[in-house]
This record gives sequence, C-alpha cells and structure tokens, in this order.
Amino acid sequence: MPIVASSQTTSQTQQNAPLRWILETSDTAYVVGVNRLGQVVLCYWGQKLPHHDDYPTPPDLGEYASFNGAGQRNPEEYPTHSDLKYIEPCLKATFSDGVRDVRLAYQRAILVVEEETLVIVMQDEHYPLKVFLFYRVHAQTNIIERYVEVQNASDTPITLERLFSAQWHLPMSQQYVLTHFTGRWNDEWHLHRDMLTQGVKVLDSRRITSSHHHNPSFLVGEPNTTETQGNCWFGLLEWSGNWKLTAEVTDFDSTRLSMGLNDWDFAHRLAPDTRYVSPSVFIGYTKDGYTSASHALHDMLRARLPHPDIARKVLYNSWEVTLFSVDEASQMRLAEVASALGVELFVMDDGWFKARNSDSAGLGDWTPDPIKFPNGLQPLIQHINALGMDFGLWLEPEMVNPDSDLYRAHPDWILHFPTRKPTLARNQLILNMARTDVQDYLIAHIDALLSENNISFIKWDMNRNATEAGWQTDGEPREVWVRYVEGLYRVWGTLRERHPHVIWQSCSGGGGRADMGILNYADQIWLSDNTEPTRRLPMQKAFPMIYPANTMEAWVTDMGESWLPLAFRFHVSMTGLLGIGANIIQWNDDQRKLAQAHISTYKAIRHIIQFGDVYRLQNAYDGAYSGVQYLTKAKDEGVLFVFRTHIPQPTYPYRLRLRGLLPHVQYRVEGFGTKTGAGWMNTDCVFDLENFESKLIRITLMGD
Ligand code: GLA
Repeated sequence: MPIVASSQTTSQTQQNAPLRWILETSDTAYVVGVNRLGQVVLCYWGQKLPHHDDYPTPPDLGEYASFNGAGQRNPEEYPTHSDLKYIEPCLKATFSDGVRDVRLAYQRAILVVEEETLVIVMQDEHYPLKVFLFYRVHAQTNIIERYVEVQNASDTPITLERLFSAQWHLPMSQQYVLTHFTGRWNDEWHLHRDMLTQGVKVLDSRRITSSHHHNPSFLVGEPNTTETQGNCWFGLLEWSGNWKLTAEVTDFDSTRLSMGLNDWDFAHRLAPDTRYVSPSVFIGYTKDGYTSASHALHDMLRARLPHPDIARKVLYNSWEVTLFSVDEASQMRLAEVASALGVELFVMDDGWFKARNSDSAGLGDWTPDPIKFPNGLQPLIQHINALGMDFGLWLEPEMVNPDSDLYRAHPDWILHFPTRKPTLARNQLILNMARTDVQDYLIAHIDALLSENNISFIKWDMNRNATEAGWQTDGEPREVWVRYVEGLYRVWGTLRERHPHVIWQSCSGGGGRADMGILNYADQIWLSDNTEPTRRLPMQKAFPMIYPANTMEAWVTDMGESWLPLAFRFHVSMTGLLGIGANIIQWNDDQRKLAQAHISTYKAIRHIIQFGDVYRLQNAYDGAYSGVQYLTKAKDEGVLFVFRTHIPQPTYPYRLRLRGLLPHVQYRVEGFGTKTGAGWMNTDCVFDLENFESKLIRITLMGD
C-alpha cells in the first residue's frame, strides 16, 4: 500500500495530530499534510525514509511583517490567487458577482486504494466551488501523477483564468539548476542548464501545439548534480497544446515550480453543475543524477505507449528525395530498392493527394491524386506488401489550403476572426478542431482511408502554428486553445480505437509536437526536419533525457553525405529508431551493401536500444567526442556508439568508462576483451578516432 494516512482521514483537522499523507514509491516519498491554518502543504519530497516518523510534519510559517501572509511563506500544494500571497498561483477565477479571488480550505481526503490514489478535497470559504487534488502513485517507476478537478456546484458560472495542474516545492535555501530544452523549426532540442535565481522563469507555448521552442518537461538538479549522482526532481505534462511552466525563487529563498495549461489568452467558463479536469503532470525524484531520472521517465512512458511491446520497424520515407513529385511508378521503384536493403515499412510522404503538386493546394482533400495514382493507392500498397513491407502514409489532418474543395465548401471551418484576414503560413490555414463537425469530417474521411487500404502506419503532420484563434461560439471563445487539443485527441483517439494495429508518428514540421500527451496516440516522434548527423548528435542526446529511444525517429538522409561517411550516418540513426530518407536509387553497390549490413545489425540490436536503458557517456572536446551506451534491462547485452565530429589537431584519444553493468560478472566488449563489469566501469576504454569516424561496439555478458 503506497499511501499511508498518518492520522485519521476525517473531515476536520485535529489539534495535536496534524493530517499527513505519505505517498511512497519504490525509492521515494512525497508527503503532504494540512497545517494549523488549514493549508494543504508539502512536508517532504525526496528519498524514502526508514520510518514514517522520519518525515516532517506540515510546515506552519506565519506572516512576515504586514507584507507577506502565511500563504506566501508556506509550501502550499495548490495556491490560489488570494490574500497576502504574491507567488505564482495555480488557480485564478472570477465569480459571477465579480469577486476575483479563491480561498480554499481543506475539507476531507479520500483514499482510492485500488487506484493507488489520494484525493484531497478543498472547498472555497464562501462559494460552492470545490477543488479535488489527485495524487496517483506509480510505485514501480517512482513517479507521482498529479491533476486537479474543479467543480462548480453553484447555479451561476465561474470563469477560470488560470488552472495549473500542480505546484511543487524544493528543499528551502538551496540553489537549483533547471535543465530544459529550446529550439525552433529545423533546430530543435538545445539542452540548457540555467541556475534559478530570485524571480520567475517561465517556459511556455502559445502556439496551439507544445511547440519546437520549449518542451513541456523539466529536470531540476543542484549545482553538483551529474549524470551519475546528486538530487534531481523532474516532471512532464501530459498535454499537446498551450502550456506553461513557472520556476519561481521567492524573496524567502524558497523554490517552487508549477505547470499546466497556459493562462495566456485563457479562460474556461465553468457552467453551473459542471466540473473540469486538468491534464496530468508526472513527477519524480532521484538521488542518483540525471541518468536515473531519464530511466524513470522512460520506464513510465514506454509502458504507456499505444504499442508498448512491439519492436519498431526500419522505415523508408521518400520526402527528402521526391518532395511533392510522387507517383505510382516512382514510389514502386523506390520501394523495390528499399526492400532489397532490408527496410520493413515504406512510407509515402506529402504529395499523394488531389492537386498536391506544391504546398499551395490540396490539404483537406484526402483522396489520391487521379493523375499520380489513377487506380487509387491499392496497386502501390499491394506492390509494397508483395515486397514484404508494410505501407505507411503521410497526412496533415488539421490543415486546409484555401485552394482545396474542403475550404471552398466550408470556409467557416478554420480558426479565424470574422473581421481579420486569416494569416497564411506555408499557404495553409488551420481547421478549428474544437468544432465537432470538423472532428466528425476528419474521423469519417481518415476512417474510410484506413478501412479501404492496408495502411499500417500514419505520419500525422502539422506544419504551422495558430494565428487569429477565433471561434464563433455561444460559449467562451478563449476556450478554443484547450478545446482544439481535446478535439484533436478525440479524432486521433477514435481512429486509434477503430484501427488499433496502426502505428502513428507525431510530426509537426519536425519536433513541434513532442510531448507526453501525444504519446497516448503516437508511438514515435519526428524530432526535427534537420537530419544532418553532426547536428542530430546533440539533439539525440537531449531528447532522450526525457523521452525513450523507442519514440525517437532518426533517419539516414542525404544531409551531410558529401563529407560524412555512410557508416557514421548510420550509426547516428541507429541510436534511435532507424529510418532512411536518402536517395537510395543513386546509391552504388558498395553503399547498398553497407546499408544492408547496418540495417541487419540494427535488427539484431534494436531490442537493446528500443527497450533497454540509455547511458550518456562523457563528452570531450565540447561534445566533438561523444558516446552513448544502451544496456538491456537484464544487463546481459549492450551496445556502445562512439563518435568524433571535427577536432582540430592536436587531439588526444577519447577515453570513456562503461556504465550500468553488473559489477561481478564478466562482459566481453568487442575489440577490447573481457573483464568484470566493475573492471569496465572503473577503467577507461580508449578510442583513437579520426575526424568523422564512429564505432558501434557490442557488449556481451559472458557469465561469472
Ligand atoms: C514537414 C515534415 C516533413 C515532411 C513535410 C511534407 O515539414 O516535417 O518531414 O513531411 O512536412 O510537406
């Protein structure tokens, strides 16, 4: 039983025995309680301790002068905008009489034992507004899930103006380093480590997707936290739309983080007798550094994927070779070459549907172009299946070109303000996914496509962000940001239910929609349109800080082909989900043989990469040397990749130590010999690499 109430769960706090709930996972504990002021506060978040009495009681600080009330000073679990509290709140609301603050008091708690969930119920002092704080313990993966439900039991509406999922507090008076990711189209996944200082650091998206620019995830360490040791608190949000993270260091040197729906241009009208449930955040703690945080996240995320246990296939995608010039004959020819290389899944990208000869027409009309595919998609699919491969297709369901039958029939279906000219980006506009008629249209059309054709894989793309996010509704138009994502989830979820075998890829002009929410629908993510391998190396180091390698698509394309050996390009892609997007027709026999060999090696090791644990090894020369190691969960098989990009002379060899091995058993490391795990982990492997050289090295357990 991972949740323990250390005094009775009653509707009232008791004088001498403060209410406290201890949520324990395999290695960690999260303890919340109610202090004498009736505030629900954090008592402890860290390593699991031997006895329940070891955990602190609820903190109970008073006001500080006349300027900062107790609310400001105590680590409240769900602070609201009210009283002498000037920290970032989780909830801000306006009642129908114009009152604009919320005062919540603890009411009761419910333990839902079979769901390993604690629910703390809070009630506004005056209005029939209730807030339910949910804590679900994922004991095995050391993760705690938090979300809230807000309930309006009155007969007048309440307008929610901020609704975060949770707030967390780190131990007082310490310094913290926030690890987060930034980017832009074609240049995603820059890893940043920023010291948190007094004030508020905000990361967010206002674009209707989670965005290329920041990722809804965080890792917070202390200045001395490393890959292998030190405190690390981490989390991510299960949401694919506008989101916000605030990391605040107060004037009292307390550090708090909160995360949830973005309150920018946000309002939610909570009608009488209705409730609203926020997205979940999943958080964890480890004392063992960043690698251990990644492993916890990977275990949790992998188990929740739509197809958790299926090894991902090696795919070919023709986009970078053909762009919009696809047709039956040329796709068949590419498929023949791909199949001879060992490719298992052939994906036809953009350009296959009616009038789609450039990016200026066709989006919205999801029927095969009659000139390029006079007999529909069947002949191509049959040919691909006969070659022993699955067939996949590109779609961009949320979009429409003004030059399309769909837009001509339903110009009002797009996000727009009636008096403003809609802004075109890549010649396209965004369908308002908040509308049920739009959702129903997409469900019907894509369902038909999937029912009539043997399609095993869909690349779901989204190539622009929202502007003029107007919604002509009788309700609150600013709900569109959230309703859009709910509509997207409804469409995707319905299609997934009807076609459970289909594997989906999330792409948004590269990595614009890489988040935990989308991984309930998509099994894999396109990180970036930038496939240049030396740029991919740091990106593919950053992405798996949070997301597991079996969601990380990595293709060998023609980018970098003039100066990077084909083996290097393959090795970079083999550290994730190997795919090919190069012009394989032009490859000579030697290149094809090399590709065949790498694909066949990948098939032999993919279980280690896709289902094992990743270890980021030390970088040297500012990352010009890098190494990544994967090890099965059983620690009986591993693979090591090492890379050297460009280092001017003179250089020294690359030295690294393996990690994660069982100390007392023997492992053979290809090219280096046999030693115990302890031996490999405490002595250097030395690599003399040339510029742009790489190596793939197998690690095999030999026994005692
Ligand atoms: C986006 C994707 C690419 C490709 C094109 C097609 O840019 O990221 O991989 O699918 O769209 O238009």
